[in-house]
Amino acid sequence: HEDQEELITPECKDLMSSLSRGKGWVLIHLYQYQGFWHTTRQLQGVLACQKMFQAQATDLILVSTPKSGTTWLKAMAFAIVNRNRYFCYDDHHPLLTNNPHELVPFLELKLYVDNNVPDFTNFVHPRLFSTHIPHISLPESIKDLKCKIVYLCRNPKDTLVSLWHFTNKLRPKTLEPLQIEEAFERFCGGVSLYGPFWDHVLGYWKESLQRPQSILFLKYEDIRDAPKVHLRKLAEFLGYPFSLEEEKEGVVEELLKLCSFDNLSNLEVNKVGKLSSGEECSSFFRKGEVGDWTHYLTSEMIEQLDMITTKMFKGSGLEF
Ligand code: A3P
Repeated sequence: HEDQEELITPECKDLMSSLSRGKGWVLIHLYQYQGFWHTTRQLQGVLACQKMFQAQATDLILVSTPKSGTTWLKAMAFAIVNRNRYFCYDDHHPLLTNNPHELVPFLELKLYVDNNVPDFTNFVHPRLFSTHIPHISLPESIKDLKCKIVYLCRNPKDTLVSLWHFTNKLRPKTLEPLQIEEAFERFCGGVSLYGPFWDHVLGYWKESLQRPQSILFLKYEDIRDAPKVHLRKLAEFLGYPFSLEEEKEGVVEELLKLCSFDNLSNLEVNKVGKLSSGEECSSFFRKGEVGDWTHYLTSEMIEQLDMITTKMFKGSGLEF
């Protein structure tokens, strides 16, 4: 897409010429806008939704750092909010035939991508959207209307390893795969998709402390540790708590099973399907484990990354 000049608006081109440029993961360059690093296509999507997206107070926004389990969160939120329309035992549940990214669209990467003008007429209410946009760059109406935001992040070491695998899958065959050492350098320097990772997390963390009723802050590892507790928390926050009857019927367990890595990754749609934005659905399901970084990072890398995380999160109350 870096080469598809015709898709870049003059406004975006103009802005890009004034932005700092860094080394990309998938394509050649990233651009720093409002403190965060974006691909050209992503940046254009961010600008478009900043300009045009009109939130409604009932909108539910799922925000995450890339590779923190966005696909999983989308599946869980969709299943929770729509469980009266689509029963979780239903053989025709949309999650069985659609990748979660098609059911909960990204604002900047799907709805407003490539100059698209989204049509919201068929959206059911409450509308469910997702984004990786950092807090500082969120469309104003989301902040003004205090839309409910669920924020998901993940241990930076697993995030890095997952991002490295993912971006290498997306890299054009004409480019050499990115080596882990290079990915590590860029990640540590903050030059990663929607990075710096730590600033992204801190932006939402601080907001969640100030406005806990509007922002639910979640970590991938915590959900893995106690899935039932977190699914209930998510349902309650979104305004769809489980009733006693549902609890007795095992709906919580059923929803978790429906959204589990094993279930989703083995569905035909996620094994062979492609997203409308071009990515293979299978690229969103790799291992789904906590601590896979032990297989890829050297002890020096681990020490350095941990040091950065400790320094960046010092005094914030955040730990990984
Ligand atoms: P790994 O690469 O470590 O396996 P995102 O959805 O934000 O792109 O994040 C992708 C990461 O979440 C990948 O991590 C992927 O395997 C994992 N993942 C995807 N679906 C999941 C699910 N249903 N449960 C747990 N993890 C999941």
